[in-house]
Amino acid sequence: MDMIESLNAAGQQELAKHLETLMGDARKKLERDIQSQDWAELKALYTEKSNASLEDNVSKDLKPMPFKIAVDDLRYDFWKETGEILLGKGQVAAFLVAGGQGSRLGFEGPKGMFDIGLPSHKSLFQLQAERLQNLAAQVGHPIPWCIMTSPLNHEATVNFFTEHNFFGYARENIRFFEQGTICALTPEGKAVIDNDRLALVPDGNGGCFRALAQSGTLAWLIEKGVRYVFLYSVDNALCRICDPAFIGALASEGRSMSASKVVHKAGPNEKVGIFALQNNKPGVVEYSDLPESYRDMTNADGSLTFDGGNIAIHLFKIEGLRKLQTSKLPWHTARKTVCGIEKCWKFEQFLFDAFPQLGTMMPFGVIREEEFAPVKNADGNDSPKTAREMIGKLHRDWLRKAHVEVKPGKLYEVSPTLSYAGEGLSRRVFERELGRNILEFDE
Ligand code: UD1
Repeated sequence: MDMIESLNAAGQQELAKHLETLMGDARKKLERDIQSQDWAELKALYTEKSNASLEDNVSKDLKPMPFKIAVDDLRYDFWKETGEILLGKGQVAAFLVAGGQGSRLGFEGPKGMFDIGLPSHKSLFQLQAERLQNLAAQVGHPIPWCIMTSPLNHEATVNFFTEHNFFGYARENIRFFEQGTICALTPEGKAVIDNDRLALVPDGNGGCFRALAQSGTLAWLIEKGVRYVFLYSVDNALCRICDPAFIGALASEGRSMSASKVVHKAGPNEKVGIFALQNNKPGVVEYSDLPESYRDMTNADGSLTFDGGNIAIHLFKIEGLRKLQTSKLPWHTARKTVCGIEKCWKFEQFLFDAFPQLGTMMPFGVIREEEFAPVKNADGNDSPKTAREMIGKLHRDWLRKAHVEVKPGKLYEVSPTLSYAGEGLSRRVFERELGRNILEFDE
């Protein structure tokens, strides 16, 4: 079937007609966009989703997934040591998914470039690069860092890293690659056209498995002998990237192909996915897909039934990633304004939909105040201000534990180059580093 025929067969007559009005370069560009899409799949998706209700997104057999706070476990120190050994052997890589548009924050440009207003004014990318380098130095081995972008922010991301000399990270240990895109559809299911091009949007963070493989990055990791991949989101200012205890726990458990960090939900309305068993398989139900009846469900003691919040920190064994490179994940929908057209259909895949395909998954409970400071909104909750305060309080606690007499009413920023997770601090270090790698700010 030629291009026009397949567009017509998929109900995209208007797009086919538009293409025929174009000549030369403009036509070639639109043809390339059209070729990048699976039109039969888009048609099937539109038909399926326009007839679905929110209740269809979750199975009737939804059960909460129990989890325990890992640091309370007697094996915690053993896990940490195991993880450090694996990191020291070069068997662990970091994988950042940063192809999202970050529209809620209202910041133009890749979210990782955002300065949350700490006294150091470091960007989220810089905080991550420094934390990784500190850990790599402690374990005595570099940590490969994979960074997924999208066609919308790839150039800006790579330029930012280049301008900052990769924040000291050895260039040969970083790989940037782009995720795929999918065409937005009008409320009537027609391709949205934007200045003679298709309105292509990133295909969701679930596109990461395909992109990791297709870009050759999975092969790069395998060649390096990597066995565990720590996958995380760009916007958690407290992410303990490549946390050794988390890695050691999965390595010791043996059975599972993956693990995920879990926190107790702050309340029913917190915008986090929840860990749940659907038909006895582990997975996450996204907040936008969770019907209110489940969201608000409580136990006899008043606590939330679906209480395991997803903080978007996952760990995969490399065999799991190999399996996922060809597996099909379901599509989710959002109705958004695209190119001035209201209620357009945007389709996305979610990376946590990989869990049911991989069988068992290990939940690893963590303490929110230590590991989850999301930067989602410009103001209010989950904003730069709340993230700054969380960092300031946590780092103040680290200093107090190291017997430093902190000033009342002050918060502290400890540079990740000085301490990965609170270790290595003392009164002497504080006196030496205050004003340099330890900065004070007002509560
Ligand atoms: C995400 C989780 C949610 C979790 C919350 C915690 C998903 C689908 N949802 O929600 O369950 O409770 O984080 O903070 O993971 N991204 C891409 N490509 C895309 C879209 C997103 O790489 O096409 C990246 C973003 O850059 C970001 C991450 O995925 O690093 C999360 O995406 P975002 O859209 O911000 O998800 P949330 O709604 O915050």
